Amino acid sequence: MLRFDTLRLDTPRLRLRPLRPDDAPAVYALHADPVALRYWSTPPWDDPAQADELIGRDLKALAEGDYLRLGLQRHADGRLIGLCSLFAFHLPSRRCELGYLLQRGLWGQGLMHEALLALLDYGFGVLDLNRIEADIDPRNAASRRSLERLGFAEEGRLRERWIVAGEVSDTALYGLLRRDWAARVGAPLPRRG
Ligand SMILES: CC(C)(COP(=O)(O)OP(=O)(O)OC[C@H]1O[C@@H](n2cnc3c(N)ncnc32)[C@H](O)[C@@H]1OP(=O)(O)O)[C@@H](O)C(=O)NCCC(=O)NCCS
Repeated sequence: MLRFDTLRLDTPRLRLRPLRPDDAPAVYALHADPVALRYWSTPPWDDPAQADELIGRDLKALAEGDYLRLGLQRHADGRLIGLCSLFAFHLPSRRCELGYLLQRGLWGQGLMHEALLALLDYGFGVLDLNRIEADIDPRNAASRRSLERLGFAEEGRLRERWIVAGEVSDTALYGLLRRDWAARVGAPLPRRG
């Protein structure tokens, strides 16, 4: 059985780690920003209790391996500045989806790129995934660039797939295969087990 509750991934500027109850104010601030949530699959939050609920769900889900969400904690000051996740696992197909959210004032410094390099390395290298997908709003330029910079390819459009607070939007579906990743890192990936 997978379990993620003790996972830590370190990058030059960040520690990726499971959320803790005392992260609730930072998690709330991330999800309450209407600009950062402009293209998200849910509306911005308006109740701090939503952060407590998310962290409570994570504690159980990470221990049971249902999904993996990690907070991005900055080495420099210990602050939690973002979230990234692997979810919707389909283990027979060795596939899951990727999600990510970074505090707005910190965009454009390559921080999420750094975090996602570590997360994808874990997904392909340790979890032995064959495919990681991202479902984004085609209008989300920063997300699109983030994915392309990591080697994801746009594979298709799904029309009117989302209705969020009454706004209908399409999906641009991106995919990254294990062999794409292996070519990118320049070495065959080890098989687990
Ligand atoms: C998507 C997101 C995580 C990118 O984080 P980031 O740390 O700024 O990303 P990086 O610094 O690694 O930059 C990735 C690319 O996006 C570009 N970018 C960053 N902010 C941008 C913006 N506001 N508009 C257009 N491009 C932008 C960067 O220039 C970079 O492109 P480059 O490789 O051509 O230079 C961040 O913008 C975010 O949290 N957005 C809101 C949440 C969201 O939409 N998540 C995805 C939902 S599927």
